[in-house]
Amino acid sequence: MCAIGDQDTLKNGILKGMSGDSVLENMGEAILIIDPEFRIVYFNRRAEEITGLSKEEASGKTCSEVLRLTNCLDGCPAAEMIENEDSFVDYSSELTRKNQVSVPVAIRFSILKNSVGSLSGGIIAIRDLPTKYRFSESPKSAYSFQRIISKNKRILEIFEILPDISKTDVSVLIQGESGTGKELFANAIHNLSLRQKAALVKVNCAALPETLLESEFFGYMKGAFTDAKKNKPGRFQLADKGTIFLDEIGDISPSLQAKLLRAVQDKEFVPLGGTGTVKVDVRIISATNRNLEQLVKEGRFRQDLYYRLNVIKLEIPNLSERPEDIPLLVNHFIKKFNQKNQRNIERVSPDTMEILLQYDFPGNVRELENILEHAYVLCKGNIISKNFLPSYIMGIESELERLDTGSNLINKIETETILSALKRHNWNKIKAADELGIHRSTLWRKLKKMGL
Ligand SMILES: Nc1ncnc2c1ncn2[C@@H]1O[C@H](COP(=O)(O)OP(=O)(O)O)[C@@H](O)[C@H]1O
Ligand SMILES: [Mg+2]
Repeated sequence: MCAIGDQDTLKNGILKGMSGDSVLENMGEAILIIDPEFRIVYFNRRAEEITGLSKEEASGKTCSEVLRLTNCLDGCPAAEMIENEDSFVDYSSELTRKNQVSVPVAIRFSILKNSVGSLSGGIIAIRDLPTKYRFSESPKSAYSFQRIISKNKRILEIFEILPDISKTDVSVLIQGESGTGKELFANAIHNLSLRQKAALVKVNCAALPETLLESEFFGYMKGAFTDAKKNKPGRFQLADKGTIFLDEIGDISPSLQAKLLRAVQDKEFVPLGGTGTVKVDVRIISATNRNLEQLVKEGRFRQDLYYRLNVIKLEIPNLSERPEDIPLLVNHFIKKFNQKNQRNIERVSPDTMEILLQYDFPGNVRELENILEHAYVLCKGNIISKNFLPSYIMGIESELERLDTGSNLINKIETETILSALKRHNWNKIKAADELGIHRSTLWRKLKKMGL
């Protein structure tokens, strides 16, 4: 924004602004001035309009409490800028107004230094953007691909190549932990392929014992075993002209691997109890949450089969490696539940989002979906508050509540100060200790005492 000149002149301007007649006060942009603790010391008229808060309500609060920007949850760009010793940073975001409506905004954060050159605060200039720039409301089409939502770089790269891969008949191996969306990718490949009109047949290889699995794959002929009263086609046959999706492929036994190799390689097999071979035209997509390469090295998975299945490999990152997807997915699932339940829940509260962003989701997207559904069902109002989250993901917050009871005010303030410094530094203890002006070992000791 404006060039920052002499500090004292600026401060006089600020003071004048408080009385309502300065340049800053009447600017078309919202102007906020904060002290080194990120607390608001100045707030112009436009800032009141954009946020819906009065000067009195904003004064003394931190900028993140007042603006509630989507970025405040993602790691503060201003804190990052200060750390990098830049003098300003521009970014776009969405702020949450007092009435909970979100507004897309463009922001410039500039640093204020005092006459000896040390940090004395910052200026935040905010312009509201036309609503077409609104981005967190629903995933942009670029972030949504065949019902898969993501803005993660690695997944966007997969979106990019998926149409071309789908048009061919090559085998695709999808590797990723449980709940990362492997099945969604398999669906997408089939839907984009020339086989889309034929069936996509799924087999979960981990769900059945070996003998049953073999008859699931290849079918059986009447009389193959006592209960085989008539011929039954296997999944490979049902998938003829279409696609077969072999889920949890890492779990199949060596003898079945050998039979599968033949089916994959020659596209033919012999049903249980049969004499002749059956020929099929299928495209194979397989998925696993295990490290197949490692299983090959250990001799537990046939290398030749691995090569056949793994012509193209898609590796889906864990949700904890792509926290940027959490807000998108949260909105996506809320919308999905709204449609299903004929309700109109708007969003999750900022502190709920913060907790979700801190949690590491061992069950990946599936777990996020379940957690949100749990909260959705319990929530009575328009906004899902953190009280509706299952208690096991509330780790740190509940620690704080536990400490609240029985400890004195000083302890509480100290705890809060430490936690907010840690949050500002993305839980980097070294940086937080530096900011707090205490020795690292002191911080460690205090955290241990706090049970964190
Ligand atoms: N990127 C995503 N966008 C939207 N929904 C997703 C995404 N990833 C996973 N899901 C949802 O999460 C759940 C688990 O996905 P799934 O494909 O079954 O995972 P996996 O096969 O890897 O265990 C499903 O309900 C799926 O719709
Ligand atoms: Mg699955």
